[in-house]
Amino acid sequence: MATCYDYTFARLLAKGPIDGILVGDSAAMVMHGHETTLTATIEMMRMHVAAVARGAGDKLVVADLPFLSYRKGLPAAMDAAHVLMAAGAHAVKLEGVAGHEDVITQLVGSGVPVMGHLGLQPQSVQAYGGFKPQGRDAVGAAAIAHQAAALEELGAFAVVLECIPAALAEEITGSIGIPTVGIGAGVGCDGQILVLQDLLGMNSSFQPRFARRFCDGEMAILEALAGYDRAVKSAAFPCAEESYS
Ligand code: KIV
Repeated sequence: MATCYDYTFARLLAKGPIDGILVGDSAAMVMHGHETTLTATIEMMRMHVAAVARGAGDKLVVADLPFLSYRKGLPAAMDAAHVLMAAGAHAVKLEGVAGHEDVITQLVGSGVPVMGHLGLQPQSVQAYGGFKPQGRDAVGAAAIAHQAAALEELGAFAVVLECIPAALAEEITGSIGIPTVGIGAGVGCDGQILVLQDLLGMNSSFQPRFARRFCDGEMAILEALAGYDRAVKSAAFPCAEESYS
C-alpha cells in the first residue's frame, strides 16, 4: 500500500501494481505542512478522500479517521465514518483499541470495514513525547500483541503495525488471522505501506530510517523546474508548435 492525498497521484497509483491506497491523516503533515497529524479534521480528510476516490480506479481506498473523531462518543464516531465512506472510501482506519471497542464493533456491524493501527500511533505523539518506536520492552510488546488479537476479535479486516521491532511484527503476523501491513516494522508483515512522498523521495530533509526512497523525486522536479525556467528565459519556450497562429 501507499498513501495518497490527491487525484493526480491517485490516477498514477491506479495505473500501477500497488494493491491499496491509504488516505492517511499524514495529509496534515505532507500536504498541509503541519508538524503532527493532530490538526487533521474530518473536512480535511473528506476533501482528500473525495479527490483520491475520483482517481483511484478499482484500488482499495482506506481513509483515516482523524484525531479524536472516534473518541467523542458513538454517534459522533459513526458520523465521522459516514462522511469518509460517503466521500468514496471503502474502509476506515483508526488508531488503538482501548476505549473505542464499541466504535469498531458498531462500524463493522454496519458494513464499514475497519483497519486497525498499532505500535507507534501518531495521534498519540504528545503522550509519547515524540515520534518514538514502540514495543521495545516486554510489557510494551505484549500490549501490542494483545491489542492486535483484540482487533481481530472485534472484526477488523487488517492492521497497520508502525515502528515496532521486526521480530514482534513477525510474531504478531504469525499469531493473528488478519493481514498485517507494516511501516517500520520489518519484512515479516503480510504487506507494507509507505507515505507516497517518502517513497518518491520528494523531501530530502525528511528521511526516517524505514522510508526507503525509490526515486529522487525532489531532484527530478527541481531539474524539470530549472529546465522550464531556462527555456522561458532563453525564449526557447514556447516554440511555434506550442503557439497558435
Ligand atoms: O497517516 C498515515 O499516513 C498512516 C500511515 C503512515 C500508515 O497512518
